[in-house]
Amino acid sequence: MQVIHTLAELRSALDAYRHPAVVPTMGNLHAGHIALVRQAKPLGDVTVATIFVNRLQFAPHEDFDTYPRTLEADCKQLQEAGCDIVFAPSEAELYPVAQTFRVQPPDALATILEGHFRPGFFGGVCTVVLKLLAATQARTAVFGKKDYQQLMVIRNMVQQFALPVHIVGGETQRAADGLALSSRNGYLSPDERQRAVLLSQTLHHVVQEVQAGRSSVADIAALEAQSMKTLSDYGWKPDYVHIRRRSDLQAITDTDAVVGHAVVLAAARLGTTRLIDNLEI
Ligand code: PAF
Repeated sequence: MQVIHTLAELRSALDAYRHPAVVPTMGNLHAGHIALVRQAKPLGDVTVATIFVNRLQFAPHEDFDTYPRTLEADCKQLQEAGCDIVFAPSEAELYPVAQTFRVQPPDALATILEGHFRPGFFGGVCTVVLKLLAATQARTAVFGKKDYQQLMVIRNMVQQFALPVHIVGGETQRAADGLALSSRNGYLSPDERQRAVLLSQTLHHVVQEVQAGRSSVADIAALEAQSMKTLSDYGWKPDYVHIRRRSDLQAITDTDAVVGHAVVLAAARLGTTRLIDNLEI
């Protein structure tokens, strides 16, 4: 496995290949990322993982400075997973001048749900993803469904810019108790880690209720409110629990088919750690 830090070296390493399959990450890898790498492997003639903590997608009050940088441990896991190339550029390499050309995703996708609570987040994600797809000459790129809205925004960007890359979604990997794997789980105290299971339990309850027939617009509003209350009652600070159409993440109407077409998405803070999760319904 080659670990490459510059665009020039990356270009020459990729010269020999026609179909890079790429997994963009911010590092601090866990089994969820490694599953994406394993999924990418048969989809290309070379497997590339990128590791870059992208300042553009962090708000000033967020954890950019403290986000764990664990390159050595990440490379060990990637090597074991059969990754061929790790592209881990410095900030100066990827943003040698201020990145004044930016991707501006449409408000309808980027100011709802996560975008409402993290203004500018999806613009930062799209800008770096566009750059990483160009740098790696990706023909396939794999993104986790754990970041469901991110996956949808990236799919739309790729489609509208006619980028020659196939976007693939990878299933969320979970701990034995159901907690979705996330680099930010490492911020949880032992007590919070035990309580963190409530987020996926709440989503499972919503899925069961909708599948059992509580799927009118009024039912959905009641389930969302009940889920927010459950989380609050157990000491969480929920930002949202929403049941949305999978296709565009907009609110469900009474004419929409729900089961097989919906997803429940949630974001909530436990102590100082903000967790997100979702389940397709
Ligand atoms: O999901 C992530 O880790 C990041 O948002 C991504 C896609 C690597 C862009 O920085």
